[in-house]
Amino acid sequence: MTGNPQRKYRADYQPPAWLIDDVELDFDIGSAQTHVRATHSVRRNPEGPAAEDWRLDGRDMTLVSVAIDGRRLGESEYTCGDSALVLHGPPEAFTLTVETRIDPEHNLSLEGLYRSGDILCTQCEATGFSRITYFPDRPDVMSRYVTRITADAQAHPVLLSNGDCVETGSAGAGRHYAVFEDPFVKPCYLFALVAGDLGVLRDSHTTPSGRTIDLRLYTEHGNEDQCAHAMASLKQAMVWDEATYGLEYDLDSYAIVAVGSFNMGAMENKSLNVFNTACIFAAPETATDDDFALVRDVVAHEYFHNYTGNRVTCRDWFQLSLKEGLTVHREHQFAIDQGSPGVTRIEQVRAIREVQFPEDAGPRAHPVRPESYVEMNNFYTITVYHKGAELIRMMEAMAGRDAFIAGVRHYLAKHDGQAVTIEDFVVAIEESTGLDLAQFRRWYAQAGTPRVGVQTDYREGALALTLTQSTPATPGQPDKAAFDIPVSVALFDEAGRMVREPEVLRLDTAQAEWCFDGLAGEPTVSALRGFTAPVRLDHAPDDAALARLMAHDSDPVCRWDAAQSLFLKTLVAGVAARSGGEALPEPSERLFEAIAHLLSNPPADRALLAAMLTLPSVARIGEEFDAIDIHAVCAARDHLKQAIATRFLEEFEALRADHAALQAYVFDVEEAGRRRVFRLALDYLAAVDAPGLRECALELSRTADNMTDRMAALEALRDLPGEARDTALAEFAERWADYPLVMDKWLRLQAGTRRADSVEQVTALLDDARFDFTNPNRVRALLGGFARGNPAGFHRADSGGYTLIADQVVRLDALNPQLAAALAGLLTPWRRHAEPEASAMRAALARVGEGVHSDNTREIVEAGLAE
Ligand code: ARG
Ligand code: ZN
Repeated sequence: MTGNPQRKYRADYQPPAWLIDDVELDFDIGSAQTHVRATHSVRRNPEGPAAEDWRLDGRDMTLVSVAIDGRRLGESEYTCGDSALVLHGPPEAFTLTVETRIDPEHNLSLEGLYRSGDILCTQCEATGFSRITYFPDRPDVMSRYVTRITADAQAHPVLLSNGDCVETGSAGAGRHYAVFEDPFVKPCYLFALVAGDLGVLRDSHTTPSGRTIDLRLYTEHGNEDQCAHAMASLKQAMVWDEATYGLEYDLDSYAIVAVGSFNMGAMENKSLNVFNTACIFAAPETATDDDFALVRDVVAHEYFHNYTGNRVTCRDWFQLSLKEGLTVHREHQFAIDQGSPGVTRIEQVRAIREVQFPEDAGPRAHPVRPESYVEMNNFYTITVYHKGAELIRMMEAMAGRDAFIAGVRHYLAKHDGQAVTIEDFVVAIEESTGLDLAQFRRWYAQAGTPRVGVQTDYREGALALTLTQSTPATPGQPDKAAFDIPVSVALFDEAGRMVREPEVLRLDTAQAEWCFDGLAGEPTVSALRGFTAPVRLDHAPDDAALARLMAHDSDPVCRWDAAQSLFLKTLVAGVAARSGGEALPEPSERLFEAIAHLLSNPPADRALLAAMLTLPSVARIGEEFDAIDIHAVCAARDHLKQAIATRFLEEFEALRADHAALQAYVFDVEEAGRRRVFRLALDYLAAVDAPGLRECALELSRTADNMTDRMAALEALRDLPGEARDTALAEFAERWADYPLVMDKWLRLQAGTRRADSVEQVTALLDDARFDFTNPNRVRALLGGFARGNPAGFHRADSGGYTLIADQVVRLDALNPQLAAALAGLLTPWRRHAEPEASAMRAALARVGEGVHSDNTREIVEAGLAE
């Protein structure tokens, strides 16, 4: 590694020296290069530092000219380098004109202006705008934009930018133009431009105040039939935000453009969202229930950003969770209100436990409001997004829903049109709700997952409940002060009746005690109900108590968690035995009884039944260990699955047969729940290669009327011997060859195979014509699918899995650093693993370090290798 990338510190914040009130952009899109002429009205910021020079960010473009008040600047008046244009001693107020040439055709970083298929589009968050023109690329510079686009009328009949289209016309020589005006001030990261030959799905929405909004969803021609669900989701989200937060959309039109090459899920540009097709396309034949839910939630998320993010934005990127934590929380509330609240919450909890907790315990642990970064794109993390959302959720729980919503409305009104901080949000919530959040603020400043211990002492009708907390050291933060932790608790008696209603205990010291008296017998404690705080709970009820909670707890999260704990006891014992070279123990009768009881008294929500019968994931089991013996974890999990499948073969057969009688596909809670149970049954049956399963799954892979069941069949077949597997995969590939997102499923299926030659299979697929190294969805499916979804292959004893990923990260780094850095991150948690995996993984990370050049990947590697 070479060079010395600049680290930025939150504490160094300075307001901008100059402000730009109005931005006029003129894009002249040629067949190769694009010419950008930017005209800004600039004035010195009265609150800014007294700087002499003004620095505008910019990279990967050619400066054509720069002029002040119409006079072209001479060479002594500015300096143009690799990453900035510096104006020497500009006046107090002036018009700046900058002309640049950019090359979207060769922009594989997918930041700034680039080409996805035949569509030209932009991605500017966090700092892509400075690949379009020289500009103070920071969110606290907010301006009004007018954008003019000129392009070939045949190649780019559709021209789009933020705001309202105010003018269109011919530009001669087969070219045309369009002019857009966005009346709202915005930071440059919310700028967007799209030019292409696009099909459109149109609809409209009428707000409670009677305004009609024109809704448009653009895609490449031929995909319009994949967009109905996304459009319906957008309307649902609009209605929900009106009804829940009293927020109405603020412009006359709202457009979404779906593109096939996109580094992330989607982007909330003002009135012109750009989406990954993976977060828009959903038809029963090609998308699973999980895809339908993903589309619904991402469409809603981006829509919700119009207020929480766009109308009120972030002062600097350290404040990212201001908009993302709050918007993910709003998305989560919305998702829960769409049905199946228990299982929806369980999924949210799983993301925190299985992805965020490991991040918070690894070399890249950082507070929800980070203190420093080298490359901002590396901080779009599950900590900033999802732990950030849990912090908002805790505030909501403390204030009560109505008071919290009033608090958010107060925040939006107080700061409308401003770029503000997390502190500003917390103050607004305090002002409106009357809460004292002094200690609560530590959640934003301290990284790491608190451990909360639960001890009970029962004597003569009284239960003393002691809660303790401690938080492990994280990089740069050796000592932690106590958090303010809300822990919801309820008590159940022997018969499973609730004897104490849920109550939120506030643990704000290292240790505290509560007493519950007047009890008829020793109660079972149900703790952290609904997952009231993002903490690890050290609570060890005995098997009988767990079985009781599993059967009777009224909180679905605790019911599910009791089942997980019961499974985990067997699994942890299995891992220990396996690591010690002993035979894997058989599960206890208590465990089988609890499953039998669940199967004969299933919850009304079928999806909850499926969740409760799903074994903890490999990642979740790993959380129980300081040094993970990954192969022992896989072996113990397989063994338990087979034991359960063997014992309940008939029951799983029955659940499978049940499904045969289903109606045509609809995406709703009820039907999706049934399909989830069906998939679970197939999974258990496949674990023991049950008689007839292969034939049934092959048949289903051919005849299913929906992708959810078809994928369930293929997943069941994937690791089984025999011809059925190969036949099903080959037929699938042939049938869906023209659907890239479906082919991603095909890649992912193979990347996740338990067969011993998975590394070789993935390597071969890298050269397959159906794979494309420049497309992030393909890369995530194949390489992400392997490194995340195939622990046995990724951690293979000969290090072949690590080497494969390391080599591809190096290759990718030269094209798409953002994606390369994300993939490199999968090698960083090496310290969590046992030997020999830990050393081999570390060696692969060091090898990445030697081959990569981008600040993005280097920051990840350096964090991963730091002592
Ligand atoms: N703001 C987008 C969202 O709604 C994501 C942008 C991610 N940007 C990035 N550079 N990773 O979540
Ligand atoms: Zn977001």
